[in-house]
Amino acid sequence: MLGDRARRLLEGTRFADVRWVDSIGSTNAALLAAARDGAPEGQVLVADEQTAGRGRLGRSWQAPAGSSLLVSVLLRPAELTPPLPLAAAHLLTVSLALAAASACESVAGVQPLLKWPNDLLVDDRKLAGVLAESILAPDGEALAATVVGLGLNVNWPLPSALPEEVRELAPTLAALSWMAGHEVSREELVVAVLSGLEHRYAVLGSESGRAELASEYRAMLVTLGRRVRVELPRDGELVGQAVDVTVEGHLVVAGDDGREHEVAAGDVVHLRDAPEG
Ligand code: BTN
Repeated sequence: MLGDRARRLLEGTRFADVRWVDSIGSTNAALLAAARDGAPEGQVLVADEQTAGRGRLGRSWQAPAGSSLLVSVLLRPAELTPPLPLAAAHLLTVSLALAAASACESVAGVQPLLKWPNDLLVDDRKLAGVLAESILAPDGEALAATVVGLGLNVNWPLPSALPEEVRELAPTLAALSWMAGHEVSREELVVAVLSGLEHRYAVLGSESGRAELASEYRAMLVTLGRRVRVELPRDGELVGQAVDVTVEGHLVVAGDDGREHEVAAGDVVHLRDAPEG
């Protein structure tokens, strides 16, 4: 049964409770509901197919049945010692994105890079995305629960054989099977992703752990050094050069307005470099 091997190999980690289902609306939505009902940290939900998969910024997430690793994990970052500060919540997304990138390399020999805030790219095409959704503690000062979900394109039909509803995505996306030239085991991937998340997540309570993760993030970010347009959630957009990420994983942009901006949330478009002179 799918999931048996993963459960066995993850025994002793906080992510051993792996449930693998054929079809579900959204693994993130289901785990958020479980979190509201008091489910403990560490539950993992994997689906072969989602009928209402969710992407960032209210978008949908589509993948042909059985083609992708669609997985969500339930975290309770207030239970870390010390707890994860609310301002560093983006590092939960970063931990899963880094764990996924390293799993792609160890299981399939494909090394993706990251685009701020949450995409895994291969040759500038999107291989995976991460979506974190949180429930705040009643005082609004801590994360009672965060569900972090990964959609990773694994064994996709070749672009010419894609179902019509996803065919238009083909020029901008990548799949591990296309890059590796063979099918890749989603179960091996999920074990590698969750093992990689285990050690990255465990250190997030300490400042030094967060600094270490931010350095790993910096080294993998193709966004750094690029000219970017950042579409901000509320205040329009910002254009400039991406120069750094902070220890909370926020993007630092040297704006064309001559000021330095720290961006905690937004959508980034990589622009061509401005012509000289
Ligand atoms: C993005 O927009 O880039 C993030 C996409 C995240 C998709 C994954 S698939 C598993 C989990 N369940 C969902 O409904 N969404 C996330």
